[in-house]
Amino acid sequence: MPVSRRKFTLGGIAAGAVLASGARLGAADQDLLKRAIPASGELIPVLGVGTNRYGVGDDASLREPLRAALGRFRELGGTVIDTAPGYRTSERVLGDIIDDMGALDDFFVATKVDREQRSDSEKRMEGSFRKLRMQQCDLMQVHNLRGWQESIPLMRQWKDAGRIRYIGITTSRESQYEEMEKIMRAEDLDFIQINYSLANQRRSADRILPLAQDRGMAVLLNRPFGGGGVFSKLSQATLPDWAADFDVSSWAQFLLKYALSHPAATCAIPGMTKSRHVDDNFGAARGRMPGAAERRKQEAFFDAL
Ligand SMILES: NC(=O)c1ccc[n+]([C@@H]2O[C@H](COP(=O)([O-])OP(=O)(O)OC[C@H]3O[C@@H](n4cnc5c(N)ncnc54)[C@H](OP(=O)(O)O)[C@@H]3O)[C@@H](O)[C@H]2O)c1
Repeated sequence: MPVSRRKFTLGGIAAGAVLASGARLGAADQDLLKRAIPASGELIPVLGVGTNRYGVGDDASLREPLRAALGRFRELGGTVIDTAPGYRTSERVLGDIIDDMGALDDFFVATKVDREQRSDSEKRMEGSFRKLRMQQCDLMQVHNLRGWQESIPLMRQWKDAGRIRYIGITTSRESQYEEMEKIMRAEDLDFIQINYSLANQRRSADRILPLAQDRGMAVLLNRPFGGGGVFSKLSQATLPDWAADFDVSSWAQFLLKYALSHPAATCAIPGMTKSRHVDDNFGAARGRMPGAAERRKQEAFFDAL
């Protein structure tokens, strides 16, 4: 069981005890959907944030909307932040904003390592710790499987030493699915991260997502909007009335609830740099999820657009 600095989110604790603890449970938290990380039972909200567009450098005017978006994310009960040293200055920008908020312990920070050689991976991870100003990393992932043969044993050592709580691997490329599957069969991983979207990125549901379920691995879903280009097409269309049956009132929620209703899904990490998008997307972290028949209806509807 990984060391946890957020004991109040452990799945094993009864809801009453969680409320009685008085820990960070605001009004917004109470109907926020959470799911358990299979390796530990720890609960995390089903909606996180991806930050591959947070690498804006030092310009205060560019940082301000990100600070607002992250502040809103926290207010709504969001905890999971996905970043990477490869996302330009994102880690440093996040480290500064989170430090200003005094909020590191409220967040579940996931970052990545992407080097071939063990010594380079060590340096890369130390750099992430420094920039994100963290003593312990919630989740360290091998980025696009690069150097996994060296990095997985290294991450495991850091986990044993208490510096990392969970380990995982990521991709968003179909060309890497076969290799991902092999690694998932060979290694004990806490998490995988994979692209899955109604917007024409559904192939991970063929083999990877069922395998994650079989292997007891938590799943972060990246690119739930297929990168976001789909919104211009959707703006020409009308949201079907039946979307309200599963508590959806926008296209973003339509796409997110499709991704999140896959039985393997633990948490979706849409990129969002605007507070209004954070507000909209949290609508997908509440209420009913589409069932199997409704999911098929969503696919048919989307494919006919
Ligand atoms: N191999 C890997 O490890 C890997 C690969 C790809 C991605 N990722 C992770 O996954 C995250 C998500 O991927 P992504 O950002 O490329 O794609 P995405 O989440 O599918 O789409 C993000 C785009 O959707 C827009 N958006 C968000 N909410 C919206 C809303 N409610 N209405 C309209 N537009 C909305 C965003 O706009 P704004 O920014 O303007 O809010 C952004 O342009 C990344 O940030 C990264 O953390 C990991």
